[in-house]
Amino acid sequence: MDKEKLVINGGKPLKGDVYISGAKNAAVAIVAATILCDEPVTLENVPEIGDIGICVKILYEMGASIKIIDKNTIRIDTRGISDPVVPYELARSIRASSYFMGTLLGRFKKADVPLPGGCDLGDRPIDQHIKAFNALGAEYSLEGGIVRLRAKDLIGSQIFFDKHTVGGTINAICAAVKAKGLTVIENANKEPHIVDLANFLNSMGADIMGAGTDVIKIRGVDYLKGITYSVIPDQIEAGTYMVAAAATKGDVWIKNVIPKHLESITAKLRKVGATVEEYDECVHVYVDGPLLKTTLKTLPHPGFPTDMQPQFSTLLTIAEGTSVVTDDIFDNRFRYANELRRMGADITVEGTTAVIQGVPELTGAAVRATDLRAGIALVIAGLMASGTTVVENIYHIERGYENIEDKLMGLGADIVRVREYETVKRTG
Ligand code: EPU
Repeated sequence: MDKEKLVINGGKPLKGDVYISGAKNAAVAIVAATILCDEPVTLENVPEIGDIGICVKILYEMGASIKIIDKNTIRIDTRGISDPVVPYELARSIRASSYFMGTLLGRFKKADVPLPGGCDLGDRPIDQHIKAFNALGAEYSLEGGIVRLRAKDLIGSQIFFDKHTVGGTINAICAAVKAKGLTVIENANKEPHIVDLANFLNSMGADIMGAGTDVIKIRGVDYLKGITYSVIPDQIEAGTYMVAAAATKGDVWIKNVIPKHLESITAKLRKVGATVEEYDECVHVYVDGPLLKTTLKTLPHPGFPTDMQPQFSTLLTIAEGTSVVTDDIFDNRFRYANELRRMGADITVEGTTAVIQGVPELTGAAVRATDLRAGIALVIAGLMASGTTVVENIYHIERGYENIEDKLMGLGADIVRVREYETVKRTG
C-alpha cells in the first residue's frame, strides 16, 4: 500500500523553464527490444520512472547483466538470457511487459509471458498481437494466465491490423525483425515512440522502412550489433507541462522537446485561448486571457493522444462554456471525473463522452489517483485549485513522470511529497 501523497497548495500560475525527460513509452519498448541485440547496448535519456525500473528488473531476473551508468543511462547485455520466461509478478504490474512477447519470440522463437497489467483503463485484449505472431508462424496458447508462444521458424508475412494498436504494432516489429524474409504491417500505428523503436533497431542493423506511416516493411536480418542510443523526449510529459502551464494561466518554457510531436496538443491549446510559440527544441506556453470551451476527440497519432485527455479535460473544468470530450480508445478513461467533482468541477460522463461545464474555480480536496494520467490530471487540478489538495496513490504517477515534484517546484508550485506519518512541511 502506497503511503506517499502529494500535497499541493494551489492557485499559483506556473512560471519558468522545465526540461522534459526521455519518453516512457519509447523507453519501455526499447529496453524490452534489447533482447534482440546480439551485443551490449547503452541507452541514454532513459527516464528514471517506475515502469522502466520494472522492465529493467524483468531483464535482470531473466539473466541479463545491467549496468546503471548514471540515473538516465543504462548499459544492457541480454546475452546471458537463456530461458525466455518472464517473471509472473513483474509482468503483471505493467502493460509494457507485453513487449517481451515480441522480443523473446523474435530471439528465441518461443516465449512465456504472463498477461500484462498496467493502468486499469477497461478491457485491454491482445488479439491483434496474437494475430501478428500467428501470421509470422507462431502458435499461441494461454495457460494459467501465461501467454505461450512457440514457432519452428518465424517467416516474414503480411499483417493487417483490424484496429489501431500501439502495442500490437511494436510487438509485430519486434517479432519480425529477425524473421526470414519480408514482413509488411498494414494499418500500423504511427506514434513517435514506434518510430523511435524502429530507429533504435535500424541503428543496430535492422531493416525497417515506413515507421511513422501506416505501412511498415521489415526485412529480417540475422544479427543486431551493439550501439549507444538516446531515447526521444517524452511527448506526453511535454504535453502535460504545456497543459499545466495553460491551466494555471502561467508562462512556461518547455525545453528538450520535439515540437512536431506536440502539434495536436498545441492546436487544442491555441483553440482554448493559450498562446503556444514553437522553437527548435522548445515550446513556450502562456495564457493572458480567459480559457475557452472546446470539443475534443482522442485519436491515434497524429490525432490528440488519449494519454493527454485527462490533463486537458481538467483544464476544461475552468474554461468558459460547455466542452465535450470523447475518448473511446479505452473504455474507462474518465475514472478521474469523480475526483474532479470533489474539487467542484461540473463534469458528467456517459460512456466514452464527458460533458464539462466550466466553473470559475476548483477548490482543493483529498483525491486519489486511479491511474497514471488520471493521477497527473489531479496534480494539475491541485495546481489550479484554491486551497490545499492532497493526491493519494501517487505510485501511479511515479510510473511515468520523472521528478514530478522537483520539476513543478522549479516552476514555482507549492507542492510537497509526504509520507502518511510525516508533518506537512511546505516548500516552493
Ligand atoms: N486493442 C485490442 N486488441 C489488441 C490490442 C489493442 O482490442 O490486440 C484495443 C485496446 O483494448 C484499446 C485500443 O485497442 O482499446 C488501443 O490499444 P493499444 O494497443 O493502442 O494501446 P497499448 O499498446 O495497450 C499504449 C500505451 C498507452 C496508450 C495507448 C494508446 C504503452 C506502454 N502504453 O497502450 O499508454 O494509452 O498505447 O495510445 O506504450 C500511458 O502511457 O499512460 C498509457 C496508458
